Amino acid sequence: MKYRMETEVVHGVEQSDPHTGALSMPIYQTSTFVFKNSEQGARRFKGEESGYIYSRLGNPNTDVLGKKIALLEGYEAGMTTGSGMAAVANVVLAAAGAGDHIIVDDTVYGGTHYLIEEEIRNIGIEVTRVDASVLGQVENAMQENTRLIMIETPANPTLKLIDITGVVKIAHQGKALVCVDNTFLTPFYQRPKEFGADIVLHSATKYISGHGDVVAGIIVGDQKFINHAFKISTHYGWTLAPFNAWLLLRGLKTMGLRVHKSQENAQQIASWLEDHKAVEKVYYPFLKSHSQYDLARKQQSGGGGIIAFELKGGYEAGKTLMDHVHLCTLAVSLGDCDTLIQHPASMTHAGMSEEAMREAHITPGLVRLAVGVEHVQDLIEDLDKVLQKL
Ligand SMILES: Cc1ncc(COP(=O)(O)O)c(C=O)c1O
Repeated sequence: MKYRMETEVVHGVEQSDPHTGALSMPIYQTSTFVFKNSEQGARRFKGEESGYIYSRLGNPNTDVLGKKIALLEGYEAGMTTGSGMAAVANVVLAAAGAGDHIIVDDTVYGGTHYLIEEEIRNIGIEVTRVDASVLGQVENAMQENTRLIMIETPANPTLKLIDITGVVKIAHQGKALVCVDNTFLTPFYQRPKEFGADIVLHSATKYISGHGDVVAGIIVGDQKFINHAFKISTHYGWTLAPFNAWLLLRGLKTMGLRVHKSQENAQQIASWLEDHKAVEKVYYPFLKSHSQYDLARKQQSGGGGIIAFELKGGYEAGKTLMDHVHLCTLAVSLGDCDTLIQHPASMTHAGMSEEAMREAHITPGLVRLAVGVEHVQDLIEDLDKVLQKL
């Protein structure tokens, strides 16, 4: 990167239109591209000439977006998918096939858990779930045919951290790639490449969009892996629409402002919650009370915008809180300008078995707050109004 991240989200990768000079990239809302003649069409299909063919196989808006995230994350290449889940599935299928083995951390986004348990196992990919924050468990799970270790750090929704360097060391002793889902922190606060991760993915639905109006995914890695993954994506048709890519490019320009504000708010709210009489425990990586505070300081440059907390009154208190706040909006997702509050046990992770929920440390009273960019005092007053009555 030539400039600092706040500058690169605005200027990194040229987007102005060479034909008209328009500063904002046009939306290439087209399914197909016209060839000058049949020979050119043949050359493009053979890969002898660069250029667009058909939007499932490539489109200027999605291409620029993939390149931009690759730049921010420090990887050679990037690609987009129609959702964050398509990105997760794409990475798994690009790294492993029937007869291979993958390791997945036991605390991951609910959708990732269901994909692994209900689809990936069924196509003959062997899966071991471990608590990857305990490196010994990762080491014990490694097999000759392990091809991928999939982790989220901080993990959704408990904010458990995983030592990326430690996991990479184990993976690379064998033949496994390490993929980090970096949705929670964004490259602003964590760049897994610096710790040796082979692949990074994002639910771009979250901070990259920032406005709660797009569902999208991103994968970045080396050119060889991305070429392979992109080919799979074209087969399955996990294509991101040009307009959605354009919205993400627009959202990216203010990502620096948004993530810094949301983090500043989150740090303040986390500290305030910690002293609140209605709160049993707060999980936020940059609180000294976080059991992995030292690791957070080592691999993150900020605590991010997500807080999880446990209320003394458990499930019922959590329900009362969510039903009576006004400014904090009861909705899943995260990374938006709006502060969103949700209850993982009955919402995002509700389909998990009791055992899987226990392994992931998702307790009935756990509340997740995805802090937005509003004035922090308004958010605190909104929460306090309800917490005082619990
Ligand atoms: C950490 C994480 N990864 C992946 C996903 C899936 O992304 P999407 O909803 O864009 O498919 C989510 C969604 O909440 C998530 O929180």
